[in-house]
Amino acid sequence: MQGIPHAGTALADTYRAFATRECAGVSPAYEHLCLGVAGDAEILALIGQLPLPRRQPNLLLGVVRLLGGPTGGYLAMRAWLVAHWDAVRAQMLARTTQTNEAGRTAVLLPVLAGLPQPLALLEVGASAGLCLYPDRYAFSYDGAAPFGDPAGPVIDCATAGPVPVPDRVPRVVWRAGVDLNPLDVTDPGDVAWLRALIWPEHTARRDRLAAAAAIAAADPPLLVRADLNDAVADLAARAPAGATLVVFHTAVLAYLSPADRDRFCATMTGLVAARPGTVWLSNEAPGVLPAVTARLPVPVPPGRTVLARDGRPVAFGMPHGQGLTWLG
Ligand SMILES: C[S@@+](CC[C@H](N)C(=O)[O-])C[C@H]1O[C@@H](n2cnc3c(N)ncnc32)[C@H](O)[C@@H]1O
Repeated sequence: MQGIPHAGTALADTYRAFATRECAGVSPAYEHLCLGVAGDAEILALIGQLPLPRRQPNLLLGVVRLLGGPTGGYLAMRAWLVAHWDAVRAQMLARTTQTNEAGRTAVLLPVLAGLPQPLALLEVGASAGLCLYPDRYAFSYDGAAPFGDPAGPVIDCATAGPVPVPDRVPRVVWRAGVDLNPLDVTDPGDVAWLRALIWPEHTARRDRLAAAAAIAAADPPLLVRADLNDAVADLAARAPAGATLVVFHTAVLAYLSPADRDRFCATMTGLVAARPGTVWLSNEAPGVLPAVTARLPVPVPPGRTVLARDGRPVAFGMPHGQGLTWLG
C-alpha cells in the first residue's frame, strides 16, 4: 500500500518493491525513478535519515513534484535532490501522503444508491473530503451516458460481474469527515499538494481533482482534526435523524496499527447495532481487514481493493475507482 516503509525492510527493497508492485504498468516515470533510488546509496542515505514513516517513495516523489523538481529522468532528479535536499527534507517531515481520489465514489455508489434515502455520510480518513460528494459528480459505468450532476466531473468506471449499476446518485443531507490532518480545498497550498500526489501520467485525475475541489470549496464539508478512533462515535451521533447514516473509509486503515484497526472495527460493530439502519462501508487493500478478506469466496485479484458492507465483502474495486467487480 503506497510503499509504506517497515522496520526490518531495507530501504532499497522498499523502493524496488514500490517500483515493481505499484508503479509497473501504471506509471513508467515513477517506476524508473524508484528503481534509480533503489540502486543509489547516496540518495538512500539521505532518505534514511528521515523517520521511518517519512521515507515513503510516494512522499518523496510528491515532494519533488510539489517543489518543481524534474521527474523525467533519474539522473536529473538525483542531481536536483542533492542540490535541494534541505527543502525536500523539510517538506517530507511536514507532509504526509493524503491522496484524495473522488473517483473512489464510483466503487461506493452502487451501495449508496441502493440504500433508503436520504443519506448522512461520515468518512473516516477523509483527507480533503472529496469522496463526500457522490451526489455532486456524474458517473458513467462501462461507457454509458453519464447520470448524476451534470455540473460535476464525469467519473468513469468499468464493471464486471453483477454490479447493481445505479441510474441516479444518492440524496445527501449531511456530510462530515475526520482526518489526522484534514486538507482544506479552499487553501491553494493544500490543493497543490493533492495535485502533486497524483502520478505524472494521470492527467485525467488532475482534471478531476480540480473539478471536485471546486465543488467542495463552494460547499465545504464538516472536517474534524482527530484520530478516527477518537472521533467516529461523537461525529456519528451528530448525524441527523431520519437519514441513513453511512460510515465509510477508502485507503485509510492501512495507516493504522492492527490493534487500532481492531478497535475501529469494534466501534463500528457497536455503532451499527446502536443505530438501526446504519451502514459501514469499507474499501481497503486486501489484508488490511483480515476478517473481511477471510470471508471472500475467491482470491483477491492483484491490485484490487475489497469493498465490504458491514464486514461482509461485496466487490473488488480498482485503486482509483476506475473498475468494479461484483461478487456473485
Ligand atoms: C490515502 S488517504 C485517503 C483519503 C480518502 N479516503 C480517499 O480515498 O481519497 C488516507 C487518509 O487517512 C488519514 N488517516 C490516516 N490515519 C488516520 C487516523 N488514525 N485517523 C484519522 N485519519 C487518518 C490520512 O491523514 C489521509 O488523509
